[in-house]
Amino acid sequence: MKNVTKTNVAIIGAGPSGLLLGQLLYQNGIDNVILERKSSEYVLSRIRAGVLEHTTVKGLEKACVAERMHREGLVHHGVELVFDHQNVRIDFEKEIGKHVVVYGQTEVTRDLMDARITTGGTTIYEADDVALHDIDTISPYVTYVKNGEQHRLDCDFIAGCDGFHGVSRKSIPADILKTYERIYPFGWLGLLSDTPPISEELIYVKHDNGFALCSQRSTTRSRYYLQVPLSDKVEDWSDERFWQELKNRLPPEMVNKLVTGPSLEKSIAPLRSFVSEPMRYSTLFLAGDAAHIVPPTGAKGLNLAAGDVQCLADAFMDYYKNNSQFGIDSYSERCMKRVWAAERFSWYMTRLLHTFPENDDFDEKMQQAEFNQLKLTSHASKALAENYVGLPY
Ligand code: APR
Ligand code: PHB
Repeated sequence: MKNVTKTNVAIIGAGPSGLLLGQLLYQNGIDNVILERKSSEYVLSRIRAGVLEHTTVKGLEKACVAERMHREGLVHHGVELVFDHQNVRIDFEKEIGKHVVVYGQTEVTRDLMDARITTGGTTIYEADDVALHDIDTISPYVTYVKNGEQHRLDCDFIAGCDGFHGVSRKSIPADILKTYERIYPFGWLGLLSDTPPISEELIYVKHDNGFALCSQRSTTRSRYYLQVPLSDKVEDWSDERFWQELKNRLPPEMVNKLVTGPSLEKSIAPLRSFVSEPMRYSTLFLAGDAAHIVPPTGAKGLNLAAGDVQCLADAFMDYYKNNSQFGIDSYSERCMKRVWAAERFSWYMTRLLHTFPENDDFDEKMQQAEFNQLKLTSHASKALAENYVGLPY
């Protein structure tokens, strides 16, 4: 084959996982190439949560892409939960002296893409038919098609950062992988609008009609979500219907503060919990959504991805700089504890705040009692605060 190149780490996927890994490796002199199936514009058009934990902020700083985030990101010291029109504020500063930074995932991705251009890192967008070869040998390689031509990329390691539907996880033999999954019987309908947020903090709402979330991207851009049946289509939801239903689910004093406006984007996403173990098979390392999915209640997806790639970058540094296998050998085990903690928290928040079609009166009383714990015991609100801002690892 004529188009053969070589690198240290071949990274599949230019989402936040792949791009952050690429920059962390670059900062440490480890050569890498990113192969992405879509165009950069397409990657940037995906709208996802942007609540950054302290360790994610640290990761962006290490990658030298934190400047705009520090300038434009909104520091949030707490979050509000509303259950059948009763509310409780979880005060992160009071409970554990920490905060989160609200900065959209799209902006994180844009900053990483800009940094990659500045540092001259290679990203091949619109790379078709990416395939992994010889991953259980010391000479793995990746093939892909670009502009109709076949290419081959030789490497030492492959980082599978290609999301839930990617090719990397599927390249691990089925008898090696153990998967765990929970599919929830509803989705989230999201609406983005250039309207000021309803409140300075995020508001998570449980109502008989279903969950709602008031989130934000900036002081002038809001993101709202409604729990909807999986059978619903975006076309079923005019902007008017969306705003009316959001008003139904909010307590009256909050409705008065809601500023509505035309939607910039509307989409429905299903909710899923998913983990595949192990996260390493020979020379292939999975990171981010390729290895695990959380439902968005709690905004852990991006933070989990950032945690994985920081651990993976450290492992590769250990290998290339100290000639040590320790980091790469312990990668999966080190990630798993953090992953399961975030899976548990996202599942807990989802269970606490959604209306489950199969729930009976007893289940609903349990949900109410669980919410009351947050009002009654400081331990419950502290545990929620600790998990929301991110457990130390
Ligand atoms: N070849 C090359 N690239 C691929 C392939 C493939 N076969 N399959 C998927 N990709 C690309 C996708 O187009 C996407 O750009 O991999 C990228 C994966 O990005 P994400 O799905 O954003 O996953 P990740 O980078 O791990 O980010 C995790 O994103 O989904 C959210 O909630 C999640 O916030 C979390 C974050
Ligand atoms: C978002 O702003 O998109 C968002 C925020 C918090 C969540 C989920 C999504 O828990």
